[in-house]
Amino acid sequence: MSVILVTGGTGFLGSYACTRLLDETDAELVLLTRSTDRAGFVDKLWRSWQLHLSPEAFADALTRVVLLPGDLHAPDLGLDDAARQALAGRVTSVLHIAASLNRKSSKACLNTNLRGTLSVIRLARFLHDHGGLARFTHVSTVAVAGMRDAEDVAEDTAIDWDRSDYDPYGRTKKFCEHMVRELLPDVSKVFLRPSIVMGDPLFPQTTQFDMVRAFCAIADLPAIPLDPNTRLDIVDARWVGTAIARLHTMAQPPHEIFHLSSGQQSHTAREIADALVAETGRTARFAPRLGTGFDWTVRAMNRAPRGTMVAGIGALLKVFWPYVVYDTVFDNTRAVEAVGEAPAPFPSYCGPLYAWSKAQGFRYPHVPLPPSFQDPGGPTWA
Ligand SMILES: NC(=O)c1ccc[n+]([C@@H]2O[C@H](COP(=O)([O-])OP(=O)(O)OC[C@H]3O[C@@H](n4cnc5c(N)ncnc54)[C@H](OP(=O)(O)O)[C@@H]3O)[C@@H](O)[C@H]2O)c1
Repeated sequence: MSVILVTGGTGFLGSYACTRLLDETDAELVLLTRSTDRAGFVDKLWRSWQLHLSPEAFADALTRVVLLPGDLHAPDLGLDDAARQALAGRVTSVLHIAASLNRKSSKACLNTNLRGTLSVIRLARFLHDHGGLARFTHVSTVAVAGMRDAEDVAEDTAIDWDRSDYDPYGRTKKFCEHMVRELLPDVSKVFLRPSIVMGDPLFPQTTQFDMVRAFCAIADLPAIPLDPNTRLDIVDARWVGTAIARLHTMAQPPHEIFHLSSGQQSHTAREIADALVAETGRTARFAPRLGTGFDWTVRAMNRAPRGTMVAGIGALLKVFWPYVVYDTVFDNTRAVEAVGEAPAPFPSYCGPLYAWSKAQGFRYPHVPLPPSFQDPGGPTWA
């Protein structure tokens, strides 16, 4: 039986990937999380996984989930010798999803992405040397491709060390890939690079709102300062989660790097705006010439007093705007072939996502576990 050590299993993409792994394989999952006690862990996991599971299905899932208290910022992930020995010979693969997506904070990206990934690599090194690992999967991002302008990017040429990056997030994730390649040369590796992940074609609910909030703010502008032909490489979380689960567990993936993106099937700003008409009741007006002025406006909004809505929207648009206007898509032919299905077209589900997110005030209405809920406990490793 396979035992997969997962980081980031409590996050947005982690919830999709882990529930898909439980669905499609008989693997046990060892979830490294910052919770230290079982009750806190169950609570945190339920907050994330209730997007997918009923309380009954969640209880079933818990029978296959081991809690591994740990922190990417702590030396050796906070794991002592006994914990590492318990994992050795049992864990058959590592799926590293956790990261800081805080594009504005060099410190968060340095600590979580660089120091954290180095510690995860060191643990993987130990596990490979003590029993062997069938796979190390690193969930990366298309942001490793750095600054681009109207390009179609292929996996093997995406990283160009002479190119500048938009932010500390892209820069640190690029170096994470480098560390994995350099330090785990003898381990079977897969690098998965999602593009902009938003929403789910099966329902309007989401638990992650950063990009959705920016999308809604842009959609609500009286004049959108974009060329309507700009392509936006947006991909749905359901397909990304499925791709992570399938590519991680594939015996012999045909490639080492996969873009989890919409690629040449990406839609233009005009096509997305047209799809939103039913929800917003109005046709979008594009004003590409406002582009440069808009940059200034966003920067000014970003300087508004901290905590105000204007500052919040300004901060969001400031970090995401370069990824909106760069008109760049990431070839997904490899992933579509290997996964056996393609992502859903964003225009087919962006309307309900827009309406639900705004109606909810960009907050997921979490429900607590029912009082009758009994934690069945995880698998026991006698
Ligand atoms: N979402 C996107 O649009 C997108 C696009 C491209 C690539 N990606 C990549 O996909 C991955 C997951 O993104 P996401 O959107 O799912 O992020 P997310 O919802 O913010 O989840 C991040 C996960 O990382 C964990 N984590 C953060 N700091 C940690 C620490 N110090 N110690 C242990 N765990 C820590 C979090 O655990 P806690 O529950 O303890 O906070 C959480 O499970 C990342 O590698 C990201 O670069 C995402």
